[in-house]
Amino acid sequence: MVESIHGLRGVGFGGDYNPEQWPDDVRLADLDLMREAGVTIVSLAIFGWASIEPREGSYDWSWLDDTMDRLHEAGIRVSLATATASPPPWLTRKHPEILPRTADGSVLSPGARQSYSVSSRIWRDYAVGLAVAVARRYADHPALTLWHVDNEIGCHVPHDFSDSAAAAFRRWLRARYGDIDSLNAAWGTAFWSQRYGDFEDVLPPRAAPSHSNPTQQLDFARYSSDELLSYYVELRDAIRPITPEIPITTNFMCTSATKWMDYRRWAAEVDIVANDHYTIAADAEREIELALSADLTRGVAGGRPWLLMEHSSGAVNWQPRNRAKGPGELMRNSLAHVARGADAVMFFQWRASQAGAEKFHSALVPHAGRDSQVFRDVVALGAAVGSLAPLTGSVVQARAALIWDYEAWWAVELDAHPSADVVYMDRMRALHAALWRRGITTDVVASTDDLDAYDLVLVPTLYLVSDEGAANIAAAAERGASVAITYFSGIVDPNDHVRLGGYPGAFRELLGVRVDEFFPLLDGETTMLDDGTTADLWSERVELAGAEAVRMFTDGAMAGRPAVTRRQVGSGAAWYVATRQDESGTAALVDALLAESGVAPVLDVPAGMEAVRRVGEQGSFVVVVNHTDEVVALDLNGSELITGSLVEPGFKVPAGGCAVVQEV
Ligand code: GLA
Ligand code: GLA
Repeated sequence: MVESIHGLRGVGFGGDYNPEQWPDDVRLADLDLMREAGVTIVSLAIFGWASIEPREGSYDWSWLDDTMDRLHEAGIRVSLATATASPPPWLTRKHPEILPRTADGSVLSPGARQSYSVSSRIWRDYAVGLAVAVARRYADHPALTLWHVDNEIGCHVPHDFSDSAAAAFRRWLRARYGDIDSLNAAWGTAFWSQRYGDFEDVLPPRAAPSHSNPTQQLDFARYSSDELLSYYVELRDAIRPITPEIPITTNFMCTSATKWMDYRRWAAEVDIVANDHYTIAADAEREIELALSADLTRGVAGGRPWLLMEHSSGAVNWQPRNRAKGPGELMRNSLAHVARGADAVMFFQWRASQAGAEKFHSALVPHAGRDSQVFRDVVALGAAVGSLAPLTGSVVQARAALIWDYEAWWAVELDAHPSADVVYMDRMRALHAALWRRGITTDVVASTDDLDAYDLVLVPTLYLVSDEGAANIAAAAERGASVAITYFSGIVDPNDHVRLGGYPGAFRELLGVRVDEFFPLLDGETTMLDDGTTADLWSERVELAGAEAVRMFTDGAMAGRPAVTRRQVGSGAAWYVATRQDESGTAALVDALLAESGVAPVLDVPAGMEAVRRVGEQGSFVVVVNHTDEVVALDLNGSELITGSLVEPGFKVPAGGCAVVQEV
């Protein structure tokens, strides 16, 4: 793991740079504007293949050579792409067999981007060939700082059902199971006449007459994540020997919306985690979603700093209604990522395209050009980011953890379940938001991660959990943490086989409850709890087996039975929530958990103000982001990095403003 990026000082600032879209006078003007904005790093040539090699074997490096040289002269570092993110048209015409297929057999044609199957040997050979050519050409270029392999691998095609994918899936299954009867046991193929006699009979879960085998679906999700990752690894290993000193990464999409790549496994293969995040305009709590995604990214990075490789200066173009950012929102979004561990603030893209599918996507230089509010905001942001060098490399402090397992996400949202309304992000977001509103910083970690640093451990909807994960969570309670687990957790093992003897199998003993039947609620149906709050979506028949009831259902099928329970465990406690509580019920639960665990915010801040502490070699920093309409006074001593002003108790952060305080 390379800890810092070669030759980059301070917190990086910049974005995707696509000079191949522009004539030379614009490219020259770009350099002046980049200096004015304080750009220190750009991602170059991500979609460059067809401009580098417009016909097979005929190369035009001139535009890239010039750009590399000029960026170097301007003192700007380059995160150089392998240029493989989309095949050029001649390649898909010559080899249409590299195109991916959907579950119903449709071919995903060229004409957009990412029209390749990572399982195609032909595709991989061509991609490796180009990556090696790019690496050889620029190996000794002084601007080269980081390798950007492909781009958002799996973004458009997380699952490929082509024949080459089917063959790769079978290879993956042979490696996982060894013999076919182990696969039969894991997949429960005694059901519906699915017993396999030979690995050659196995297919991806293509469109079928009814529900496909759930373990087949789950293994296909595991395989697909691994297969995409192996494509990254093959490109990485091809360029590593050419530039052994240059760190290599690819941009992840660690967000609450990106389900199919198990980025914890991916993180082990990159030299530094890089992430892309876009807020959803229609999400009224998008700043909380941003915080959750950034907290996840930090967890994936093992707590180490990471690079925000892409976000947007304003609107995107891929949502139904693409809202521009409001006053101060760009600065708040960028600094919220920095607060949660980002050591670079980068964007898609430098200059807004005049043509093509993304021409209405915002950029650092908008269509209006330099004389625009966006560019003025970008210049201010660049100056602010430029002042943050002292916090580079520092790490975020947190005492609360949220458990997030990708496999649990995949499994809980498979078909043919008790309720289609149980979705993984629902309680994840609700519990994280309750902590966010109380100014608490939350780490997002795996069930098998070390939980020793946490006094509060929240476990939303962990439907699938391994024995090790369940034991690890139980050990946290024994050791003194408050652990809270929500409904439909601990139900199945990693093969998606039900844990028998009463729900929630894996956590029955820890929680001191036993459930013999689920009672999901119908759409729109609610139920009452004995504190006057409501709940919906889920209920179940809970028997106490060592726990005490904290809340009871007062109506409906479960009237008089426990809805929330608590069991004293060692020096900690284990809470169970058997229904979906409304916001006030969730707030009361979280307040009780905070009181019991002693977890408190970094600073006493009002709801809507983030205050996160990062600690590093150059001291302790509190990043505050004020999403409220009020001026907020802080109880801090030190200096503010962006303005250089002295900070004493009573220091005021403007409505909608931000501050980064180096504490004394
Ligand atoms: C992704 C891609 C970029 C661009 C942006 C638009 O992050 O990596 O190339 O398409 O989305 O939001
Ligand atoms: C039908 C089928 C059964 C079973 C039930 C489930 O009746 O014949 O095999 O799938 O539906 O409701």
